[in-house]
Amino acid sequence: MNVLIIYCHPSKASYTYQILEQLKEALKIENINFQISDLYEMNFQTEMSEQEYLREGLLNFDLPISADVQKEHKKIENADCIIFLYPVWWSDCPAKLKGWFDRVYSVGYAYGCEKKETKIKPMKTIKYGISLCTAGHPNNFLSEIGIAESMRNVMIDDRLGQRFHKKEMIILGGTLDKNKVEKEHAETVKNIAKQIKNIACNN
Ligand SMILES: Cc1cc2nc3c(=O)[nH]c(=O)nc-3n(C[C@H](O)[C@H](O)[C@H](O)COP(=O)(O)O)c2cc1C
Repeated sequence: MNVLIIYCHPSKASYTYQILEQLKEALKIENINFQISDLYEMNFQTEMSEQEYLREGLLNFDLPISADVQKEHKKIENADCIIFLYPVWWSDCPAKLKGWFDRVYSVGYAYGCEKKETKIKPMKTIKYGISLCTAGHPNNFLSEIGIAESMRNVMIDDRLGQRFHKKEMIILGGTLDKNKVEKEHAETVKNIAKQIKNIACNN
């Protein structure tokens, strides 16, 4: 089982970075291979250029796909599981991760694959996708105000969508009072690695 972690946070001093470190450790314990796309460290370009828009928006399949996007496609093709790890910012993922979807979900690759003009191999269906986010508000508050559901709709139903067989939204909420939640979060992270191992063993 190869795991690809799409990690999006600008600072190593962050709680989200601590979660990344815990996740790496848990995957190592379960002997699971992983690769990380650290979007800030890679300085991943998240704005769609006009050239890219002319391909994506106007379905001009003859235009090239940028080299950095092709690199991400390769990583996706090598993955059996993708974990998106990010902090909740204004009830969604940070703009940098949103830009990853804008650019990496190329037409003919992640959608619009039925068009005859497409010249690239469509994205494979990934076994397991996890949207793992840290949030300042506690989970029950995010559920009460409908934000947990809206984040789930956007990340799981739309962005992961049919591209993943099994998918899950995990909110590590309540980080405004870390002392209260960090033990439970650490347990959740360990369970993610165990769950991936189980899926790998049952295939
Ligand atoms: C720009 C910004 C926007 C934020 N928006 C939300 C939000 O909409 N809902 C929420 O629960 N927490 C929000 N937070 C809190 C973060 O989710 C919280 O800082 C994160 O879970 C963990 O912090 P970290 O930055 O140390 O990793 C926001 C934080 C920042 C910096």
